Amino acid sequence: MRVSLEQRVALVTGAGGDIGRGIACALGAAGTRVLINDRDATRAAETLKLMEARGLAAAVDCGDVCLAEDAEAMVAAAAQHWGGLDILINNAGGIDDAALANMSEAQWDGVLDLNLKAAFLLSRAALPWLRASGRGRIVNIASMAYRGNVGQANYAAAKAGLVGLTRTLGLELARDGVSVNCVAPGLIDTPKSQGLPPAVRERLVKAVPMRRMGAVEDIAAAVCFFASDAARYTTRQVLHVSGGFEGF
Ligand SMILES: NC(=O)c1ccc[n+]([C@@H]2O[C@H](COP(=O)([O-])OP(=O)(O)OC[C@H]3O[C@@H](n4cnc5c(N)ncnc54)[C@H](O)[C@@H]3O)[C@@H](O)[C@H]2O)c1
Repeated sequence: MRVSLEQRVALVTGAGGDIGRGIACALGAAGTRVLINDRDATRAAETLKLMEARGLAAAVDCGDVCLAEDAEAMVAAAAQHWGGLDILINNAGGIDDAALANMSEAQWDGVLDLNLKAAFLLSRAALPWLRASGRGRIVNIASMAYRGNVGQANYAAAKAGLVGLTRTLGLELARDGVSVNCVAPGLIDTPKSQGLPPAVRERLVKAVPMRRMGAVEDIAAAVCFFASDAARYTTRQVLHVSGGFEGF
């Protein structure tokens, strides 16, 4: 089935990053108009340039997803550009690893804010538009680390929280026709993972049943599925896009 997302409006947070850029481009290629959010204006502009070069409709917002007022402004900007908002992709995220004994409160709070609180703020801000859409969608980008990973107590807790948020919001919004789903990427081949020492890379790949890393396109395809009409009866799900890897 060819996924069509014509006439939709999407907000993709962290869309200057590797996975967010891939998601923004894939949604754009399926006909969606995309508000590219990234706190890093240079990275956001690169995504915009890439999309414009392909003739895809997009605009940029450089708000901070951890701030309630910026979340509200982002949603308002999407509605101002294109008259509404149908699809929210909570993709912005990041790590700040340490063993628990050495983890500072700032490390804990920073990672929880970016990977979990931001999704709450954005979902709340987007709610009126998603309800009005009639085919509203929220797709949260978690990580297989939600099942636990050494040195990532903050990140694992945040991503597990994102799964809890997905399952609860899915219930709260089901009657409004808004679906809420989650994509949990495993090891994805990005410039960051290419920078890992070869021995570490090899050890990680060995833990993947398919014995290779995934591509950004694999995550984008799962997101497009959840965003499309093909998933209209699918909500509260967590899709592991991980080559069969189920966590350590
Ligand atoms: N790369 C992987 O292998 C992998 C694996 C599992 C899950 N994930 C998840 O996928 C998502 C995207 O990861 P990625 O690898 O593309 O990361 P990335 O670091 O390449 O991109 C993240 C983007 O978010 C932006 N950002 C950070 N803080 C922000 C804020 N407060 N407000 C707005 N923008 C902000 C950054 O500027 C960056 O461009 C994350 O949620 C991550 O946890 C990634």
